[in-house]
Amino acid sequence: MERGFIIGSGTSFHASLYLQHLLNKLTGFHVTAVPASEFAEWRPAKHAKYFIIGYSQSGESSDIVEAFKVAKAAGVKTIAITNTPGSTLTRISDACIVTRAGEEKAVAATKTFDVQLAAALMLAHELAGKHTGELERAAEAAERVLRAESEVRSLAERYVKAEHAFSLGKDSAYPIALEAALKLKEAAMVHAEGFAAREFLHGPVQLVDETTPVLAFAPSAEAFKGSLKAFEKIAQYKAPLILVGPGAGEVAGYAAHRVEVQGVEGDAAAIPLVKFAQLFAYHLSVLRGLDPDKPTKLTKVVKY
Ligand code: F6R
Repeated sequence: MERGFIIGSGTSFHASLYLQHLLNKLTGFHVTAVPASEFAEWRPAKHAKYFIIGYSQSGESSDIVEAFKVAKAAGVKTIAITNTPGSTLTRISDACIVTRAGEEKAVAATKTFDVQLAAALMLAHELAGKHTGELERAAEAAERVLRAESEVRSLAERYVKAEHAFSLGKDSAYPIALEAALKLKEAAMVHAEGFAAREFLHGPVQLVDETTPVLAFAPSAEAFKGSLKAFEKIAQYKAPLILVGPGAGEVAGYAAHRVEVQGVEGDAAAIPLVKFAQLFAYHLSVLRGLDPDKPTKLTKVVKY
């Protein structure tokens, strides 16, 4: 049984995309990430020769619990990745991985996303027989991002008045771009949309001007170079471009700011990249007079 689906909602869907990227690239499994709320309609309804992996930090979101029930009724094997021991998902799944970030009190998921990424890396590397120490390097790089907090705050100060923003990602940083946009919306109440870097050329670039910051995430200099055409267009229309990632400094020309991530390159760089995104959204939120921990219209667990 080498075929599977990975499901989750919101931030947990972004982790699903990351795990999809890793498993398809590094292992013999063929997996597809689908939002948990769409699983019932998007699954192959005629046979059950596949597995599902479900990401949910709470293990209680109605969309994923319902999707697991649909899967189980169809005889599909289920694996949960959750941060909450004893949650519904741990009880109804055939197997589970419990991450250990501790209780997340803020409504917006941050540290639990970090461990979702870490679990994805560990799982994919284990299945691929790849033992490289990348996760340790990623954790150290994330620490360095946190230590450079004053620079992230200065950057947020520059864009405190932005009402619209975009975030682009290439390669394994694509889910990070989606996650950055979600954090900007939830915590900082900035209308932000995330795209795969070159997808931006297929329509959204129409919306940029000098008031719309564009964050661009990539896991390597090579990945940045693969996005140059998009960067060129963004610069042409005078939108401030902020490059974040290893090798950002090597990409000449178009950027207003470069945030170099050192000590890790490739898939594991997603962890320090998202640390930057979370910190940037946090400072933007505080500078805009908001409470980053308590978005007014959201609840920690979406149940119905
Ligand atoms: C975003 C956020 C939500 C959750 C989503 C799924 O910051 O917190 O998008 O990720 O509601 O929640 P879990 O992972 O508990 O199923």
